[in-house]
Amino acid sequence: MKSRPSLRRLALLGATGSIGRQVCDLVERYPSRLALHALVAGSDAAALEALARRYPEAHALLAHPAADDPDRAARAIDDLMRDPEVDLVVIAAAGSAALAPTLAALEAGKDIALATKEVLVMAGELVRERMRRHGSQIFPIDSEHSAIWQCLWGEKERAVRRLILTGSGGPFLRRPLETFGSVTIAEALAHPRWKMGPKITVDSATMMNKGLEVIEAHFLFDVPYQAIDVVVHPQSVVHSMVEFVDGSIKAQLGIPDMHLPIAVALGFPERLEGVTTAPDLATLGQLSFEALDLERYPAVALAREAGERGGTAPAVLNAANEEAVALFLKGQRRFDDIVPSVRRAMEAAPPARELTLSALVEADRWARARVRASVDGAGRLRSKLPA
Ligand SMILES: NC(=O)c1ccc[n+]([C@@H]2O[C@H](COP(=O)([O-])OP(=O)(O)OC[C@H]3O[C@@H](n4cnc5c(N)ncnc54)[C@H](OP(=O)(O)O)[C@@H]3O)[C@@H](O)[C@H]2O)c1
Repeated sequence: MKSRPSLRRLALLGATGSIGRQVCDLVERYPSRLALHALVAGSDAAALEALARRYPEAHALLAHPAADDPDRAARAIDDLMRDPEVDLVVIAAAGSAALAPTLAALEAGKDIALATKEVLVMAGELVRERMRRHGSQIFPIDSEHSAIWQCLWGEKERAVRRLILTGSGGPFLRRPLETFGSVTIAEALAHPRWKMGPKITVDSATMMNKGLEVIEAHFLFDVPYQAIDVVVHPQSVVHSMVEFVDGSIKAQLGIPDMHLPIAVALGFPERLEGVTTAPDLATLGQLSFEALDLERYPAVALAREAGERGGTAPAVLNAANEEAVALFLKGQRRFDDIVPSVRRAMEAAPPARELTLSALVEADRWARARVRASVDGAGRLRSKLPA
């Protein structure tokens, strides 16, 4: 095992986002344990500048600077991911943009605290191969995977029977199915429990997020798909569970606050003191669990199917979903067409001969173009909405 310094210097990809800002909060709260070596954002120069003023000692970089060569920016990010001064890379950039920096960090033997599940969904095999080859580790930030990770500490692999991911069901758990066609952007962004970035919030409303998490869990914990289940738990207090061969189930509980799983990953193998308050069991009221309704949430079965098919199918699923959600957020796609458009892309996707990075990038590009092509210049769905 690598020795880990007590002060951990972080390179943070996605610094201006919802997870990125919570990482910054923790750096401020635990200055003897965490420091920022580098901050990377996408294109929001003003937000990055504000952060750079707060952390003048950290390098600050934009992946898409307004007036610069994007290749130069990509090379600079690649260098940061490999910088010997960095102890832990935090990957919290939205979506597939995080893939190349993640692979660079793994190649440099860095440990990664990973929020961006899309990286594992798109390229789980490649990521696992890089980890094995370079001796790096991934510490999950996603609350469900953090919960499973914590339940597995000290357990033998052969003792695990199945992983049980919990999901709140999002804002539409009780909404009549026949009204899904009229869901507005504001309604989809109003998550009842978690405050997150827009893409993952829409994914929580379709529960594609849970589908992506099934694939993420498969690659993180090396467990077959048949041994990964999903259960609906509206209160979001039990963050996930592991069932063992003797019939025991271990669960991890906490208030719905991402600071906690982020701190578990940043502090590992130690716990940071007082990150959140623990839930008060006496006043919590009822904790309930219910079976997942696949008619309401077909995205979970679709994602599982992509995972089981393997190859480039998860990359197609992921890219088609990112694109469909982006179109929905621009008012150019109906909410109830997000998942069908991902399914159509998956059905039409050409099979890849070999699972290489370029095949994955090509599958990603193809799926985005395919989803975009179904919208006309005025932003109407060609196949569904009348002119
Ligand atoms: N938010 C949560 O509670 C939560 C929970 C679990 C997992 N996750 C996962 O964590 C990831 C981030 O989620 P989020 O909610 O924090 O997203 P977010 O609020 O939308 O933030 C995305 C971040 O990525 C940056 N970015 C965009 N393109 C980039 C690029 N090419 N290179 C580097 N940075 C880039 C953005 O910068 P600009 O501001 O400049 O665009 C922003 O800092 C997602 O994969 C999500 O599924 C999030």
